[in-house]
Amino acid sequence: MAREDYPTANPFVPEERDLESMAEAARHCRGCPLWQGATHVVFGEGPEDAEIVLVGEQPGRREDETGRPFVGPAGQALDRALEEVGVDRNQIYITNAVKHFKSKRSNGTRQGVTPRVAEINACNPWLQAELEQIDPRIVVAMGTVAARSLAGRALSIGETREQWLHTQWGQELIVTFHPSASIRAMSNERREQIFEAIVYDLQRAKIGGAGEELRR
Ligand code: URA
Ligand code: SF4
Repeated sequence: MAREDYPTANPFVPEERDLESMAEAARHCRGCPLWQGATHVVFGEGPEDAEIVLVGEQPGRREDETGRPFVGPAGQALDRALEEVGVDRNQIYITNAVKHFKSKRSNGTRQGVTPRVAEINACNPWLQAELEQIDPRIVVAMGTVAARSLAGRALSIGETREQWLHTQWGQELIVTFHPSASIRAMSNERREQIFEAIVYDLQRAKIGGAGEELRR
């Protein structure tokens, strides 16, 4: 696909940078073609003074229907992990690297399709604007799409999840698995391992630099 088919969300991001006006403006974003197949834009949700920002991949089917992030099965897995860590979902900001649902039809339903790098890049100005506005203590990338968008390069979750990294804009960053991996992994054992890893990483995000103390 030609590069000009994927310009950027930049011209759609308003000068006025409060979260509410950004969420409203994102409804009219045409920064890449993904808006065409989606029902709702799914902007981030949470308080402007959140200390922790969690970033997922893109909306799923339930999110596309409701316009809210992480309300489907992946959201339920995330809620369980947050509960285990003792983090109140209402006190953190939850968003996605890509704000419109990318899907294909399969057996009469819409299946999510991983966004391309060009689409991740096109949507990146929204994520940058959210982070500038919130100025969180720590950002958590859940999965490779979020990690790419935040770090500005491809990262392996397995290789980097125990590290303290930085986003391309300078915020502290940790990477973890995407919650849907804790539902979709092949074996029970692997699902459990991934869930525990997410819990561990969220715990690190919660307590900041003292992550080493958590090692079991
Ligand atoms: N998966 C994501 O990455 N984000 C959502 O909001 C829902 C599912
Ligand atoms: Fe804009 Fe992002 Fe939606 Fe593309 S996916 S139209 S860049 S909000």
